Amino acid sequence: MKKVLMVCLGNICRSPLAEAILQSKVDSKEVLVDSAGTAAYHIGNLPDKRSIEVAAKYGLNINNQRARKFVAADFDEFDFIYAMDKSNYNNILLLANNADDKQKVKLILNEISEDNHSVPDPYYGGDQGFENVYNMLDKACTVIANKL
Ligand code: 4NP
Repeated sequence: MKKVLMVCLGNICRSPLAEAILQSKVDSKEVLVDSAGTAAYHIGNLPDKRSIEVAAKYGLNINNQRARKFVAADFDEFDFIYAMDKSNYNNILLLANNADDKQKVKLILNEISEDNHSVPDPYYGGDQGFENVYNMLDKACTVIANKL
């Protein structure tokens, strides 16, 4: 079983979408996808209503997800850890114990361009931001799914 972890700040907007999108593109008997946030603000909460809505628009149900915080033990559990933005990336690396841990962490948009782009945080914006995030993640997850 390959295990992939999607990480953003709150685990309510971007990484829940990334989790569901990638899981929809792989065989669940072969690949497990989870998500987490680097901040504790929303632990236990449902995804943001706007993420639930854009997911539903594309046929994905994310109502079963609850936010959790990224922990150092995730380095032992997961093979690939995808950060949504540079700040998440840096905060994940702060918890790494060794070079093996660090090597598991990538910026997700580097799967579709090598320029260290971040998935923009849509939390304080409007619905169009969530649509934009969905489309970026869909492209990146297609590439990831084909490599797994
Ligand atoms: P996310 O978005 O990291 O994509 O889940 C955010 C969610 C909550 C906050 C910021 C970003 N917040 O400041 O509460």
